[in-house]
Amino acid sequence: MSIGKRPALYDVIQSDSGSAEACQALIERHRPDAATLVDFGCGTGDMRTVRLWRRVEAVTCLGNSLAYVHDNDDISRVFNTFAAHARPGALLVLCSPVSPVIRPEPTSAVVETPDGPAKVTIGYEWDLRTQINTRHRHWMLASGDEAGDEIRRRVLFPRELERYASGAGFEIVDMVGESGSGLIGPIAHTVARCTQ
Ligand SMILES: C[S@@+](CC[C@H](N)C(=O)[O-])C[C@H]1O[C@@H](n2cnc3c(N)ncnc32)[C@H](O)[C@@H]1O
Repeated sequence: MSIGKRPALYDVIQSDSGSAEACQALIERHRPDAATLVDFGCGTGDMRTVRLWRRVEAVTCLGNSLAYVHDNDDISRVFNTFAAHARPGALLVLCSPVSPVIRPEPTSAVVETPDGPAKVTIGYEWDLRTQINTRHRHWMLASGDEAGDEIRRRVLFPRELERYASGAGFEIVDMVGESGSGLIGPIAHTVARCTQ
């Protein structure tokens, strides 16, 4: 059974990571006067092609949504979407993987869910050629049922993010790791400013 068919379990594992707060702090630091914002990768609409026909002062793409776009040309299209919605001087805030998770062996943990304790085993694969980091999870639920899921995330290293950003008319102004200071990875917030 897939995790998507287990809403309670999905809520436990997708609980708030603090990314929204980190994003808000970055906007307050770099563009405190931003009054309009559009968030891509949070609902319907393909961010490679969507056009809302308005420009805003802050553009965000959080929760690793960018990592689910794997192809280089598609990534360029997504950055063009960001540019098409940015006013001159607008801030772009991305939350995405900037380095792979590499673990030789799967790791296991027990997590509390509304149905009781569940054991989750997580393994990662890293394909350097495609820069796809695959995470496999296997769940042994309190009921005895098993569930599994797999996600494939494209890693964009900091210098690549710089290239995609500049290609669409943004310059990077900050990159911070999840702890809020330093750039360690695997996940980072990238802040860029629209130069056009
Ligand atoms: C882990 S969720 C994060 C959702 C949300 N941004 C957040 O921070 O909670 C990843 C999202 O990326 C979206 N996504 C993947 N490829 C996309 C694309 N080409 N255009 C728009 N959204 C996409 C998926 O629909 C999914 O909702």
